[in-house]
Amino acid sequence: MARLVWSSLCGMNDLYDFVVGLKALRDYEPTPISDEDMTAILEAARWTGSSKNLQNWSFVVVQEAQVKDRVADCGDFTVPVRNAPAVIVVVEEPGGNVFDSGRAAQNIMLAASAIGVASCPITLHRSDDAAAAIGLTEGRTCRYAVTLGYPTEAAAPKKKGGRKPLDELVHWDRY
Ligand SMILES: Cc1cc2nc3c(=O)[nH]c(=O)nc-3n(C[C@H](O)[C@H](O)[C@H](O)COP(=O)(O)O)c2cc1C
Repeated sequence: MARLVWSSLCGMNDLYDFVVGLKALRDYEPTPISDEDMTAILEAARWTGSSKNLQNWSFVVVQEAQVKDRVADCGDFTVPVRNAPAVIVVVEEPGGNVFDSGRAAQNIMLAASAIGVASCPITLHRSDDAAAAIGLTEGRTCRYAVTLGYPTEAAAPKKKGGRKPLDELVHWDRY
């Protein structure tokens, strides 16, 4: 009961709905992301927790059309990269791992959404080419990116994809 009262006082139910409602959006206005919004999004990435707090990641913000196009060529479903005014390529530094990078990417998306910026995760299937496109040095990899842009009016109301039911996904004590 106390938890319920506390959570409603703190707006936690809204926060829960916000987390559950996060959606990949792929239609953006061409307007560049403001410096203030970009800094807020990058701060959220920086504050993501990581294994042993090693923070073995870095973030390459791509805004130049030429570089964006080269990054787009590195994945199979990258139309949003071409459309977005900005793309954050998540770099795994030496010792990094994909779980930590995924957490950072999710924080980027949640923080972006909180300030009205739409986003979509992107797979860079040809990650070596992507590494070359953004000038990564030896030992660093980039397999995923997140596109960012202010949503078009058409983008916002699109329905979120469905999800498998819990009883298909969850096992208790043993698989
Ligand atoms: C690891 C990962 C990679 C993804 N790669 C792509 C991608 O390359 N291109 C794309 O358009 N969407 C990509 N997505 C977005 C998914 O298609 C999206 O999260 C899923 O369809 C759920 O959509 P919803 O947010 O509308 O419910 C990716 C998502 C994840 C988690």
